[in-house]
Amino acid sequence: MKHATLHQLKVFEAAARHGSFTRAAEELFLTQPTVSMQVKQLTKAVGMPLFEQVGKRLYLTDAGRELLSTCRDIFDRLSQFEMTVANMKGLKQGQLRLAVVTTAKYFVPRILGPFCQRYPGIDISLQVTNHEQLIERLNNNCDDLYILSQPPTDYDITCKPFLENPLEVMAVWNHPLAGEKNIPLSRIAEEPFIMREPGSGTRGAVQKMFEEQGIKLKVRLELGSNEAIKQAIAGGLGISVLSRHVLALEGATSKLIILNVEGFPIRRHWYVIYPNGKQLSVVARTFLEYLLDEGKRVAEETAAIKLAE
Ligand code: PGA
Repeated sequence: MKHATLHQLKVFEAAARHGSFTRAAEELFLTQPTVSMQVKQLTKAVGMPLFEQVGKRLYLTDAGRELLSTCRDIFDRLSQFEMTVANMKGLKQGQLRLAVVTTAKYFVPRILGPFCQRYPGIDISLQVTNHEQLIERLNNNCDDLYILSQPPTDYDITCKPFLENPLEVMAVWNHPLAGEKNIPLSRIAEEPFIMREPGSGTRGAVQKMFEEQGIKLKVRLELGSNEAIKQAIAGGLGISVLSRHVLALEGATSKLIILNVEGFPIRRHWYVIYPNGKQLSVVARTFLEYLLDEGKRVAEETAAIKLAE
């Protein structure tokens, strides 16, 4: 392994995590041939195949799995070292790795703006994924902090709530149910419904609520993003249940309205979580304190502006 480089290990780790050279290339801003070349050289240094290809999918070999866990140890040790040095320098500098679920993208960047201004030495990597992919990242210890609405119960984590995340029934402004009060759930079930993709936390919460009431939704369309669903609602394709935060920045010209439906909003919260036992970097601790104090206020303000609109 003397000839292997840190860069090759990073490329390998990304390829192993995604099970794909193409997706690793996208993440690392490299070309696919570069990724494949780096993995090839690493394979040569190891002297055994690291991946095997079955159909279109890549699988790790036993040697690949061993190398992946070694890589994660190495990266962990290196980031601890970085932390120690930053501590020694007493500086708030380094990288903050944040992973947030899709709806959090409507307020997290607003929180990051003033934070970055105050700490110009901190670089941010912000990953926006759905709930299931975020849990996968947590599982692989990919980030410092995670923001989501439904903290996993089967992990040993520290979990701090910081903001409400109400889910509302949304429709196009001239929908026949607009203006009605206390619309029964069974009436909602008669409308064509636009659902988020499997693995989405929003979808999970909607399904749970309707299943508990023994009511079956008429799902007409499944879409993998809140923005796509908003466009589909505006285009008259159906109604949906989304976080009230997706209306941030919509303004008075918005084509979407919130219907007054019995049992709604579904009351949820935003949580920031991290695995217990994880040594938070100075940077991550600084952000955590900021989020729970000032950041929380910024997020609340964003929600309030949007509600007044
Ligand atoms: P989602 O998560 O983007 O996976 O739907 C949002 C949430 O859980 O509120």
